[in-house]
Amino acid sequence: MKIAIAGKGGVGKTTLGGMMARYLAEEGYKVLTIDADPDANLASALGFPKELVEGVTPLAARTPLIEERTGAKKGTFGGVFKLNPKVDDLPDTYSVTHHGVKLLILGTVPQAEGGCFCPENVLLKGLLHHILVRRDEMVIIDMEAGLEHLTRGSTKYVDAFIIVVEPGQRSIATAQQIRRLAQDLRVQKVYGVGNKLTSAEDRVLIEEALSGVEFLGHLSFNHNVIEADRKGISPYDLDGAIRGEVKGIIERLQREGFA
Ligand SMILES: Nc1ncnc2c1ncn2[C@@H]1O[C@H](COP(=O)(O)OP(=O)(O)O)[C@@H](O)[C@H]1O
Ligand SMILES: [Mg+2]
Repeated sequence: MKIAIAGKGGVGKTTLGGMMARYLAEEGYKVLTIDADPDANLASALGFPKELVEGVTPLAARTPLIEERTGAKKGTFGGVFKLNPKVDDLPDTYSVTHHGVKLLILGTVPQAEGGCFCPENVLLKGLLHHILVRRDEMVIIDMEAGLEHLTRGSTKYVDAFIIVVEPGQRSIATAQQIRRLAQDLRVQKVYGVGNKLTSAEDRVLIEEALSGVEFLGHLSFNHNVIEADRKGISPYDLDGAIRGEVKGIIERLQREGFA
């Protein structure tokens, strides 16, 4: 199953995606996570040790690899390059693995439409397509905030979208926009997850504002999430209550046939 996580900046996309990946790996799933946010920080939400990711160059910044695979030559902008570069070895070669979770840091969101017609975009687009269509594992894509990158090209083969929303009108407005966009893009299934809830009213606020969206579950506001962030570790390793909430979300996905 291929899942993309979207929502306004700061709502908790990375936190949720990281914890879902950890839970799925513990359950024995093969899990590949993709950090498609230029401001990459999925590694710490997954609980990867700093040393493991410090030296990792995002794929978008691997110029020699991009040139090798596409045949593009530096300084020949606008020149000819391969449109179907070899990518099938990249997920295994360039990912890092910890706690059974594979992480691939892209450094950008590949775009089919709108994005630049340049070698790095062509390579990353081909890579994303390969991962979504050919790889048989749980794929979780942690997306950049904002809507510009949500194109048919970047979402076509995603099975389900999870829109994260927190109790607040700004995040709700963004979630409503994403839902409309996802429908226009014909994303198969759109789910919601509420985050940072402090009361039953928060839950009602969110679910009523997004009526028609199925909610997989909610995460409570949790000081240990902030504490984990401060320590640079995963909240998954710090808090049993939030692990329980994540479990509920995955079990719901399983009942829906998405895991
Ligand atoms: N359930 C929660 N309770 C408290 N703080 C949270 C919770 N979920 C996320 N946060 C905090 O909110 C901030 C943004 O979370 P993050 O996952 O980075 O959001 P996004 O990826 O959507 O930008 C982080 O500081 C994170 O620790
Ligand atoms: Mg994030």
